[in-house]
Amino acid sequence: MLGNMSSRPAALFIQAAVFLLLLSGWGASRAPLWAAQGNSPAPPGELPPPPPLGLDDIPVPADNPMSREKVELGRLLFFERRISADGTVACATCHMPARGFSNARQYGVGVEGKLGIRNVPTVLNAAYYTSQFWDGRAKSLEEQAKGPIQNPAEMNASEERVVEVLGAIPAYREAFRRAFGDPAISLDRVARAVATFERTLVSGGSPFDRWKFGGEEAALPAEARRGFDLFKAKAQCVKCHLVDEFSAPFTDNKFHNIGIGMDKQKPELGREEITKDRKDRGKFKTPSLREVTRTAPYMHDGRFSTLEEVVDFYDKGGHPNPSLDPDIFPLKLTPKEKKDLLAFLRTLEGNAPRVAEPEAPR
Ligand code: HEC
Ligand code: HEC
Repeated sequence: MLGNMSSRPAALFIQAAVFLLLLSGWGASRAPLWAAQGNSPAPPGELPPPPPLGLDDIPVPADNPMSREKVELGRLLFFERRISADGTVACATCHMPARGFSNARQYGVGVEGKLGIRNVPTVLNAAYYTSQFWDGRAKSLEEQAKGPIQNPAEMNASEERVVEVLGAIPAYREAFRRAFGDPAISLDRVARAVATFERTLVSGGSPFDRWKFGGEEAALPAEARRGFDLFKAKAQCVKCHLVDEFSAPFTDNKFHNIGIGMDKQKPELGREEITKDRKDRGKFKTPSLREVTRTAPYMHDGRFSTLEEVVDFYDKGGHPNPSLDPDIFPLKLTPKEKKDLLAFLRTLEGNAPRVAEPEAPR
């Protein structure tokens, strides 16, 4: 081959083209981070990964810097069932990669089939939230990860159990050494590794992003464009599901009472439970709407199975109650306007990473 004079310029040309493509950020903005890599250890390229189109830089806390080794350990732990009390439940049991990192059910289902009380939010783009859970009771992904491991209705595992189970598996001792410098295992390190992995689970580059931030005029069909106008103006959705000039988080990271659950005899207090402030009654965190097509059912109690039901709920003005947010009011949308709004919501499907389940370490 080397002697073949005609193939050399061609090879050089391809190399140059690939180099230019990489330089232009093509790989970063278009390709899902983990896609087409099968069981490869971690996403390629720099860490944290460059943000996808439509999102800001991925926030990383100074006391838990990212490394390829930590991402990989986090991925192993995210799928690890053996630490749960009955050996059947991992993070990925409720946050299923094939179900938009949610579980396609009204509630979470933990060890021994125990039913939770809240809908499973996706972990896609959770890295951007300034607090975690529907009521914001965890301040970071690190703090959050310790919750489900110890929650009796989820994985129901003590720190002693986690250390014992993982410590008995040589491949884990080696993975902790690579990630943290020594093989010591603790709940804190498990949480740090899982949080680091979650920071690679970001998704943007949706048709909406390509239209709004990528200058691709044709990426957003006309009805979705009309839907976006409604989202901003008549329906006032942007009041809480923010769209900024250079990025669109679709959340304000705040808590609001839109009336979900306030129709119950004994409504869930939501944010009030955490702050003990009567003004926070029935408030829940505004979820991002990115990937919303993949994460049905909806709301903290998973009461709506379709986006049509969600739009009808807002159209009626939420559920009236003394603490209802002033930005929730009857919208009086026409059937065509509802269709346009739905068309817009369906363009928020981005390049969510496809993460393969790793082989269980031995
Ligand atoms: C039994 C099902 C179940 C398991 C197992 C589980 N989760 Fe969750 N997860 C949930 C539910 C339900 C919520 C919402 C709970 C709430 O807000 O009170 C949640 C919330 C979260 C959130 C917050 C997202 C947001 O939008 O605020 C993150 C992040 C998360 N889980 C990650 C994990 C990780 C990491 C693990 C494994 C260590 C895990 N989960 C295990 C069901 C589960
Ligand atoms: C006052 C703030 C506010 C406004 C305005 C608002 N939302 Fe929401 N949205 C929320 C909150 C808070 C939740 C979660 C409520 C809960 O579960 O109790 C939510 C939940 C949702 C969900 C469910 C997402 C999921 O993953 O479960 C969708 C979809 C949604 N909103 C779309 C819209 C649309 C469309 C509009 C405009 C018609 C809108 N929102 C207006 C605050 C708001």
